Amino acid sequence: MHDLAPTPPMGWNTWNALRGDYTDATIREIAGALVSSGMAAAGYEYVCIDDCWSEMTRRDDGRLLPDPAKFPDGIAALADDLHGRGLKLGIYSSAGSVTCEGYPAALGHEAIDAQSWAEWGVDLLKYDNCGDHGDLTCQQRYEAMAAALIATGRPILFSLCDWGEGRDWEWNGEAQVGHMWRNTYDVRPDWAKVLELLDQQPAVADRIGPNNWADPDMLEVGNPGLTVRESRAQFALWCALNAPLIAGNDVRTMTDDIRDVLTNARAIAVNQDWAGRPATPLTTGTTTQVWVKPMSGGGAAAVLLNRADPSAVIEVTLDDLGLTGTEAATTDVWTGEVSPVIDGQIAVEVAGHDAAFITVR
Ligand code: GLA
Repeated sequence: MHDLAPTPPMGWNTWNALRGDYTDATIREIAGALVSSGMAAAGYEYVCIDDCWSEMTRRDDGRLLPDPAKFPDGIAALADDLHGRGLKLGIYSSAGSVTCEGYPAALGHEAIDAQSWAEWGVDLLKYDNCGDHGDLTCQQRYEAMAAALIATGRPILFSLCDWGEGRDWEWNGEAQVGHMWRNTYDVRPDWAKVLELLDQQPAVADRIGPNNWADPDMLEVGNPGLTVRESRAQFALWCALNAPLIAGNDVRTMTDDIRDVLTNARAIAVNQDWAGRPATPLTTGTTTQVWVKPMSGGGAAAVLLNRADPSAVIEVTLDDLGLTGTEAATTDVWTGEVSPVIDGQIAVEVAGHDAAFITVR
């Protein structure tokens, strides 16, 4: 396996905001917005085309080509453009007969599809789980594609998207099939759904690490359906979980508030820091919760999450964070404000459906 994800991958994907409604021009506009907004400089690197990019049938030679109405110049020209801007290109298929939207998929065509993607200059494959699976296990189907990708010689980040059905966490670390694996069904821009996906992460917390990240699905930050507070709470939590940060909003039209969330360097530094385990909750609350992640520098990051409607004062102690000492201070990740910790006690008022995000050392 190529060492492509020593820290959680960062990028952008078509699906959450656009579904199948994009063309080559759209992707180039998105790439431009990633650069001009500061997201590219903040670390968002992979620009990913999700479902609906290809023709509806393979050519006689078995090749699957891009829809010429969407990609009149082909995919290779787009990859060149992205590479010229310092970005990378992601593409999508499924470990079955068809994709979730009914396009031809790669099961049984692994070698020829991987070869095409490598020739076009693709840098990432998201591999879904729709279509007929034959009699193969999930691990067999994903291993077949991993082998095909390796055989091309091109380093291609492999993102497994079997929604947890294949229990990747039981085999992926040792078998080194993919760099990240979805362990949930699909996200939606809906607060209850974000919390549902969040609550599935502690079960795999001790299964993840470099080149083996759990993927609680993409960000809905900035999409209609989540408020700015809910958006920044999802972002804080995904950062503390060491989750891949794949933005899913229309970055061409995002507000300054949302851009500031997505490009917050302190938050991204927490996401990219690996100290042996991601954030886990101190308690299983239905109203307020504190999620704590150790930092490699010796401190901790904490997300003080208010799941409910009314605002609440959320408390945590240095002991809870696994820290000792009398000189501790908190840094508010959103604002950068530093405050001393008095008597080992931290208390923050958090609005409903929002999260305070602090680092402590
Ligand atoms: C599945 C995946 C999504 C997206 C769609 C595309 O639902 O889980 O992330 O890729 O397919 O059809």
